[in-house]
Amino acid sequence: MCGIFAYLNYNVERERSYILQVLFNGLRRLEYRGYDSAGIAIDSSSPPPKPQCSSDSKFISSPPLVFRQEGNIESLVKSVYKEVDEIELNLKESFSIHAGIAHTRWATHGEPAPRNSHPQTSGPANEFMVVHNGVITNYEVLKATLILHGFEFKSETDTEVIPKLAKFVYDKANEAAGDQVVTFSQVVLEVMRHLEGAYALIFKSSYYPNELIACKRGSPLLLGVKELEENKDNGSGFEENKFLSKDGKPKELFLSSDANAVVEHTKKVLVIEDGEVVHIKDGGVSILKYENDMGKPGTFSRASSVRRALSVLEMEVEQINKGHYEHYMQKEIHEQPESLTTTMRGRLIRGGSSKSKSVLLGGLKDHLKTIRRSRRIVFIGCGTSYNAALAARPIFEELSGIPVTMEIASDLLDREGPIYREDTAVFVSQSGETADTLLALQYALENGALCVGVTNTASSAIARNTHCGVHINAGAEIGVASTKAYTSQIVVMAMLSLAIGGDTISTKARREAIIDGLYDLPNKVREVLELDQEMKDLANLLIAEQSLLVFGRGYNYATALEGALKVKEVALMHSEGILAGEMKHGPLALVDESLPIVVIATRDACFSKQQSVIQQLHARRGRLIVLCSEGDAASVCPGKSCRTIEVPQVEDCLQPVINVVPLQLLAYHLTVLRGFNVDQPRNLAKSVTTQ
Ligand code: F6R
Repeated sequence: MCGIFAYLNYNVERERSYILQVLFNGLRRLEYRGYDSAGIAIDSSSPPPKPQCSSDSKFISSPPLVFRQEGNIESLVKSVYKEVDEIELNLKESFSIHAGIAHTRWATHGEPAPRNSHPQTSGPANEFMVVHNGVITNYEVLKATLILHGFEFKSETDTEVIPKLAKFVYDKANEAAGDQVVTFSQVVLEVMRHLEGAYALIFKSSYYPNELIACKRGSPLLLGVKELEENKDNGSGFEENKFLSKDGKPKELFLSSDANAVVEHTKKVLVIEDGEVVHIKDGGVSILKYENDMGKPGTFSRASSVRRALSVLEMEVEQINKGHYEHYMQKEIHEQPESLTTTMRGRLIRGGSSKSKSVLLGGLKDHLKTIRRSRRIVFIGCGTSYNAALAARPIFEELSGIPVTMEIASDLLDREGPIYREDTAVFVSQSGETADTLLALQYALENGALCVGVTNTASSAIARNTHCGVHINAGAEIGVASTKAYTSQIVVMAMLSLAIGGDTISTKARREAIIDGLYDLPNKVREVLELDQEMKDLANLLIAEQSLLVFGRGYNYATALEGALKVKEVALMHSEGILAGEMKHGPLALVDESLPIVVIATRDACFSKQQSVIQQLHARRGRLIVLCSEGDAASVCPGKSCRTIEVPQVEDCLQPVINVVPLQLLAYHLTVLRGFNVDQPRNLAKSVTTQ
């Protein structure tokens, strides 16, 4: 949902071509967040040395250059180099300080077109330029006011009001200030005071050359700091503001919507918090923060200076590369044995003197008693994360004995559904930044529920704003379609149910069987991945189909929903997950000899019911593909009329992890064979940070 990036080199010579490369690579890393248009702003020439160019004076450098292009990052790259040639801009010109900003867009307001791409600017002279991730909800009022003051708008975006407001604020402040200096952060603080909605913003200005300002409210943003001359005494740990002072040392600073675009440069980061205004100037960083309540726009009181410590990213560059795979989705499907192992590492305990088996989830230890006393557990999420919670619901209910209800985050908000103080609300989200889930979290907090986060991003808003939680540790997921995060979410939820369920004699055997099953799961997933070629063959058969139904029930209703979601979102083929128990209440009407139907009929308590479903579909000449347990192919298939996919059998509550893998592979191969972009499906973006 839009990616923003900025690069500032300080006291180190960098050629224009290098600066462009850093900006383009940053965007490539963020492209999965949006890929329908992109843009950058860079300086046209090096500003003269101080004192003339002091950012504290009213100096205007030659206008920065803004490039915007419809299409993906590579279209932008091509058009920039073409324009650079046309305007005869020297790629070898070097800058000892330079601030560049960049944006990759997932359109919300206005179609993908250069005029609607970012950076959005204050006017033709590009005095203020802004890249934005999020949505400004009061933009129409601001726009009307700015038009009354003579501003002309060129785009249909909500973002355009921001640079124009900055120009308006700057002019007014300078009129009032006389000889007094108006700083960049004063301008942005005033702009922020008028903005409502969710945003992460980076500002560049020709009035303040070589400075950048970043601020946020609701949308994610982090700062990366790379010191080019390491301080001898700063090898271990970080003192507050150590890397943020104006020490004159050469350094490179990065601002980014997420860590993927920063980790190849540095692991030292600062996760910017809501209400903070981060001002990069003269190689130092100062942070001002408005004292306001999360989610209540327009309630700013005053800003004060804050000191923050840098943290270390716990990710490796390899995680964000494709390795020997052609696509991220393919890589992420195939690395599930490893991601599941990482998810479980250090959390399963087997052996010891009592030889007992248990689960240790450190992030929950102070809250387990409260969760066990809850009147109800509510699972809240969107899309794939919702499906993962749905897959875990039966085992939660079985082991905890507490009723579990399911909520799609947007629907909970639409209905303002009841959430009570006695509830435990579990928020499941890969990114930890999904706007609907985040707003549902805010709603649950306001209603006094204990809030638990299950996310894949430790520094995310959901992880930070819940009372406690479990990190799923699946590693960076770049493919827009969630795969490895889904299976890790189910495993975390299974471990959570074991932790909440407690250690009763009556459930001991069941609990131990699940823990043994968890230990074996990565190997079993490795076995299912061997179905790759078989699923490719099946994809070849289905390549020209219009539609695919997936029937599941019990633990595997979620698998049906998730399998269908994968096929529809990447292969762009209509697909529907259907609760098999509902078959006779409508969906049966669709069945004929041409429509392909996947029926999930692995061994569990619902197996015989699924056999009966297969019989009924067969009686209506349904074109069946049955996903069954190893050894069952001959018996599940009436009159050998259907195609079968055999998978290893595991403990019933873990079977959804196994069963979804062939469907992920099917969706992947269908997409490649149909010639669509697997990692960047049409109209979608990872991390949906707007409502
Ligand atoms: C589908 C998919 C989406 C996300 C949904 C929630 O493959 O990825 O349905 O699951 O947008 O995102 P998170 O989990 O980041 O909250």
